[in-house]
Amino acid sequence: MCGIIGAVAQRNIVPVLIDGLRHLEYRGYDSCGVAAIVGGTAWCARSVSRVADLEQQIQNTQLVGETGIAHTRWATHGAPVTHNAHPIFSHDTIAIVHNGIIENYENLREGLRTDGYQFVTQTDTEVIAHLIYSLYRGDLFSAVREAVKQLHGAYAIAVFSKDQPHRVCGARAGSPLVVRLGQQENFLASDTLALTGSTDRFIFLEEGDVVELTLDGVRIADRYCSLVQRKIHMVKAHGSAVELGPYRHFMQKEIFEQPQAISDTIAQTDAFDPELFGSTASDVFNEINSLLILACGTSYYSGLTAKYWLESIAKIPTQVEIASEYRYRDSVPNSASLVIAISQSGETADTLAALKHARALGHSHTMAVCNVVSSTIAKLTTLRSMTHAGTEIGVASTKAFTTQLVALFVLAVTLGRLRGHVDASLQAHYLKQLRHLPSALNSVLALEPHIIAWAEEFSCKENALFLGRGMHYPIALEGALKLKEISYIHAEAYPAGELKHGPLALVTEAMPVVTIAPNDTLLAKLKANIQEVRARGGQLYVFADTDTRIVNNEGLHVIRMPEHYGLLSPILHVVPLQLLAYHTACARGTDIDKPRNLAKSVTVE
Ligand code: F6R
Repeated sequence: MCGIIGAVAQRNIVPVLIDGLRHLEYRGYDSCGVAAIVGGTAWCARSVSRVADLEQQIQNTQLVGETGIAHTRWATHGAPVTHNAHPIFSHDTIAIVHNGIIENYENLREGLRTDGYQFVTQTDTEVIAHLIYSLYRGDLFSAVREAVKQLHGAYAIAVFSKDQPHRVCGARAGSPLVVRLGQQENFLASDTLALTGSTDRFIFLEEGDVVELTLDGVRIADRYCSLVQRKIHMVKAHGSAVELGPYRHFMQKEIFEQPQAISDTIAQTDAFDPELFGSTASDVFNEINSLLILACGTSYYSGLTAKYWLESIAKIPTQVEIASEYRYRDSVPNSASLVIAISQSGETADTLAALKHARALGHSHTMAVCNVVSSTIAKLTTLRSMTHAGTEIGVASTKAFTTQLVALFVLAVTLGRLRGHVDASLQAHYLKQLRHLPSALNSVLALEPHIIAWAEEFSCKENALFLGRGMHYPIALEGALKLKEISYIHAEAYPAGELKHGPLALVTEAMPVVTIAPNDTLLAKLKANIQEVRARGGQLYVFADTDTRIVNNEGLHVIRMPEHYGLLSPILHVVPLQLLAYHTACARGTDIDKPRNLAKSVTVE
């Protein structure tokens, strides 16, 4: 989604802004731009290509400036064309970059038109630019504070006025904005990643905050327009997160980081203690009688997988809902239910809105399973389970998914223990399995060369089916999603038992059928499903636990996984599917870390 960076300094900040944009590219964008104050004039460059193109334009013009803002845009209002790219101007004086959507922009635009303002873009952002200009009397901070009072919707903005060099203002509501404090220079951005350096001092702005950056410091006004002090956090540099190292893409790097990410996520799990989730968790866990999980996309699939664990280990009824559906349907609230929002970014608009909706319905017990501690979702919930996946740059989620699974497994065992379904020896068994998981994952990652060979065959297909059963069905869904997202091959996932109720009609020699075959209680049933496909000439690509004794045969291609890993098996089985999607996409030459039309953090509805 869109990304923002702004800076004031006593040095040329244009390279800083461009570098920041480069670090925001992973979020997905279709145009970009930069504006700086140069000798009392506002100068601007925009591109509907990549940040590298913008950089070239700047090199050609040899632009230098000490006050500036920059943006990567993911179009919502107005096509991704140059004149809609941000920064957007009002009267060549006010320049603004904006993330989010202004819901009342049509009303505001009509009012401004009546006052004689002309609109040259199709964006909702131009309304904010004109609004600030209309309120500007030489004090930008005051004009921005007045303007945001009229905005409805979700936004983060950065603004400068060419009359006030060394001053950038920002505001946030429903979209993140952070400030990095420097020595006689200050910065703001939508993501700490855009502001790399050594260990840095950051302020995470709160909902409704308006900020003014000058060389000497920052002033922050809260939603009631009172000046406030916000806590300063030390954030370690993201150096290695934004370096590719020996990998071709961030997605590949992040797939291989999974053993470490899982190890980091379970580092605090010595016992399955409710305190892990917050100081009030013990009371909450004793009060609840069910769980309601809300999430989108890959995070939704981690919720679906966890449902199997929560109902089998903790025997607690668990409902999993797609956030964008839940928020708009009539549901029956249960105040004794714990609402769990799963979100890597913690900023996904639908998940956030679903969480707020649940609270409005009277759900007071809430938990976040989240990878970003400073995120809106993590702040809004009373309990938290933080994953330690580190920064995920690739748009297709990988290590965030497996760390969510680990966090949810720990929750299932903790609840199982409290509810008397997990005794000490079972606890010790689960702990041992969790601790061994990183090394089991390494042996799955070692299968990469075999998967590359399959990927070559997949690269010329246009459709694929994924089959799984039980808790591996959500893993089949995730495998199909990964393939769709980055290779653009159409893929569908089914619980294997559903085949003969419809999808079997699609099976021909041209249809690869990827099958997850763990050595679990459903193996005999799955083998029967495999025969159904073989009998119709389908080509099966089976990831089989080594103890299943499924072997290569005509129409049956097998990659042998390690021995069955019990309840944690879904975490092992998703990894070859990630690698299959990744290498198929490599063979098709797609833009893997920035797949078309997709964005990393979906902060608009
Ligand atoms: C797919 C993917 C998305 C996200 C979804 C939710 O690879 O990454 O489906 O899982 O947009 O994002 P978060 O977890 O940030 O709420």
